[in-house]
Amino acid sequence: MVRLIALIISIALQVIAAIIALSFVKMTKYRLSWILLSFSFLFMAIRKIIQLWELLRGTPSFTWQMIDEWMGVFISFMIIVGVILIREIFYSLKRAETDRLKTERRVLNAIINTEENEKKRFAKELHDGLGPLLSTVKMSLSALNGKITDPAGIDILQNTNHVVNEAINTIKEISNNLSPHVLTNFGLSSAINAFTSKVNKTRALEIDFKSNMEGVRLDNDKEVVIYRAVCELINNSLIHSGASRVEIELNKHDKFITLQFSDNGRGFDTSILGTEDCKGMGLSNIDTRVKSIDGVFFIESSKGKGTNALIKIIV
Ligand SMILES: Nc1ncnc2c1ncn2[C@@H]1O[C@H](COP(=O)(O)OP(=O)(O)O)[C@@H](O)[C@H]1O
Ligand SMILES: [Mg+2]
Repeated sequence: MVRLIALIISIALQVIAAIIALSFVKMTKYRLSWILLSFSFLFMAIRKIIQLWELLRGTPSFTWQMIDEWMGVFISFMIIVGVILIREIFYSLKRAETDRLKTERRVLNAIINTEENEKKRFAKELHDGLGPLLSTVKMSLSALNGKITDPAGIDILQNTNHVVNEAINTIKEISNNLSPHVLTNFGLSSAINAFTSKVNKTRALEIDFKSNMEGVRLDNDKEVVIYRAVCELINNSLIHSGASRVEIELNKHDKFITLQFSDNGRGFDTSILGTEDCKGMGLSNIDTRVKSIDGVFFIESSKGKGTNALIKIIV
């Protein structure tokens, strides 16, 4: 009696499992794996029905027992093939995900490159277009020197000279910020060095920069991404942290490059990043840009404990 109940329950359960698996067949566009698994459950149920039939008859028949055993073998075979095919589905999903990430990175890279090229073009236009015009104005003003004797005129001339000099310097500055010529000509280490020296001169912050990469050149996009990241991190320390000291280390290892950054400022709660409370884009831009060159960016900070950041890229 107990066996009879067990058989009836397992028949019911296997029929339910077969129906559920059959409903997946449609959803997965008739994938063979689901068809095989559905049939396996169906055959399991049939097997149990045979066993039930045998039990009710009371006298076991050799033929039916043989059919039952061979159905067991057949079911196992179908399950193995079905499971292998399901494994293939997971592999292809994983491949699709990797392809999607690769495409995403390529698109990001293209956007960043276009942006950098535009900046370069703009910097060149400013430097080569407006620069010479202002230099000509400066030369014309020098030609006036000595020709104006009226003290008010001399005053105006001196003032104009001063303004033109300011304009020439500002253009150089803007053009250099848009596309740092030290980065293009001498590489990452020199460009960071030049930038940190400039900040050190203002005495707003003391930056200690160390690197084992003097004279080492990387792909242009990698240099640009790391350089922009360093500028943003320093900028954040200047604006938000109240720090007195920043330490930066740029090192080349066997297969990768690391940039370590730390300030001794007030720190912040990093859980705000990426939420509504954080309006700024600086850190998320670093993250996006670093990802576009297959790198990783970590930032670690807590109130009162300063801020540390790490960028790691493969070369
Ligand atoms: N070095 C730092 N020290 C203290 N707070 C920081 C530091 N860097 C970032 N933050 C905090 O994280 C926020 C987000 O920074 P960021 O994404 O660069 O945007 P933004 O600088 O435009 O505000 C900042 O508004 C600031 O509150
Ligand atoms: Mg910022």
